[in-house]
Amino acid sequence: MTLARKDPFVVADDWWRGAAIYQVYVRSFADGDGDGTGDLAGVRSRLPYLARLGVDAIWFTPWYRSPLADGGYDVADYRAIDPAFGTLAEAEKLIAEARDLGIRVIVDVVPNHVSDQHPWFQAALAAGPGSPERELFHFRPGRGPHGELPPNNWPSQFAGSTWTRVPDGEWYLHLFTPEQPDLNWAHPAVRQEHEDVLRFWFERGAAGVRVDSAALLAKDPTLADAEPDDTSGYVDRDELHDIYRAWRAVADAYDGVLIGELWVPDPERFARYLRPDELHTAFNFDFLTRPWDAAELRASIDRTLAYHAPVGAPATWVLCNHDVTRTVTRYGRADTRFDFATKRFGTPTDLGLGRRRARAAALLSLALPGSVYLYQGEELGLPEVEVDPARIQDPMHARSGGVDPGRDGCRVPLPWTAQGPTYGFGDTDTGSGAPWLPQPPGWGAYAAEAQADDPRSMLALYRSALHLRACQPGFQGHELAWLDAADDVLAFARGAGLVCVVNLSAEPAALPPHREVLLTSDPLDGDGRLPSDTAVWLRT
Ligand code: NOJ
Repeated sequence: MTLARKDPFVVADDWWRGAAIYQVYVRSFADGDGDGTGDLAGVRSRLPYLARLGVDAIWFTPWYRSPLADGGYDVADYRAIDPAFGTLAEAEKLIAEARDLGIRVIVDVVPNHVSDQHPWFQAALAAGPGSPERELFHFRPGRGPHGELPPNNWPSQFAGSTWTRVPDGEWYLHLFTPEQPDLNWAHPAVRQEHEDVLRFWFERGAAGVRVDSAALLAKDPTLADAEPDDTSGYVDRDELHDIYRAWRAVADAYDGVLIGELWVPDPERFARYLRPDELHTAFNFDFLTRPWDAAELRASIDRTLAYHAPVGAPATWVLCNHDVTRTVTRYGRADTRFDFATKRFGTPTDLGLGRRRARAAALLSLALPGSVYLYQGEELGLPEVEVDPARIQDPMHARSGGVDPGRDGCRVPLPWTAQGPTYGFGDTDTGSGAPWLPQPPGWGAYAAEAQADDPRSMLALYRSALHLRACQPGFQGHELAWLDAADDVLAFARGAGLVCVVNLSAEPAALPPHREVLLTSDPLDGDGRLPSDTAVWLRT
């Protein structure tokens, strides 16, 4: 039976409650001018691919003017596209072209900090201590007899200190790198500016905004020292809710959607940001970080649904993004959790096992009620690349003293063709640039072109799953009922007789009674049972 895909612009109001959203890391997606860096021309040329994949929206990681000290999360001008990526006029064209294909665009706003090249920070440096320009940031005198010690002991999100001293002797706060000074969110001009930035992008057709580091903006005004595990001075402070209520009023005027990047482990406190007058949704990092373990995943699903329901927000399901280890690699390791603190070079990995599990995890997450985020290359089954340390650009690597491989391993430019010097990433007829991160040998085996006609490919699985998810009415509600199943088997029913079963045990599992097998992540065994590390969608 063929069912029509629901028209996303007809059910406009709450499209985000069940959307499949594809994350584009512009620098690594497709390189239209062949200079080695991905760009908007590259994205525009690949929009038909994304439409064919079946996604409802694209979230672009920051595409603004930036020195790229942290891959664009160091913004020098929120109203300009980085010249390496293109122009504002091109972004507007891209938004319109995507819309013509039924795909919405979500931009990434980075409110916690700016680039040290941002005019506000440059003005603050020039104006000196005590100036109004410095009040937009957190400048303080140092401690110690000569002010030679940082003002407090807060640790950086990227290892090392959170304070840097400027030549006149004052220090400024940066929760990330020194190139990312934190803004002072107690200052009305900071609030005003960001509300204007939201309007700027909504007026250019953006359907939503991903809010970077959304739990970090507000700081304890005393900037007091913290005990080792106490983050209350700068994470999840109550003042944030008022900021997001003001943002929601702006977004509502445009039917825009606000998506929080909230690393807040307490689910009750996390859900507070999703109250009806605050953010619309937030990434589910609880689910993302879980190991490949039935009890852990089931508990995370239950917790997610339980805490979202009272605030009326849809759950989201995320397996990977530009900050975390790619799924096929993570699931092929002895420790299948994701944890920033434990990333190391040379971790043994069984990619065959990881791939089976990643396929099963895809069917699990795409069957759950709510919206789902895919990270570019996930649909190709790309593994994490162990990038030559001499080529790593991610500041997490250098700031860890070279211990942490950082995040470049999931940011290697995509392969589009099986052959060619850049596997189709760049147009080598127009440019001569090698990709900004080296692609490993054999990368072409993962190319979209190499997978497109192979029904057993990861790409084929994602296309089929996204199509079914969009067309089957059973996926469109918000109900989920667990079914009896063996230990280490997850089985649940959605609406209209749809059932998902995921076998995380070592033994094959019998399927519940059913009328039709809609999709399997790998074939059933000869007895019609679900093999280990396999998922199935059934109609019962
Ligand atoms: C979260 C982003 O996802 C990450 O890539 C970035 O480094 C930090 N926020 C700082 O902006």
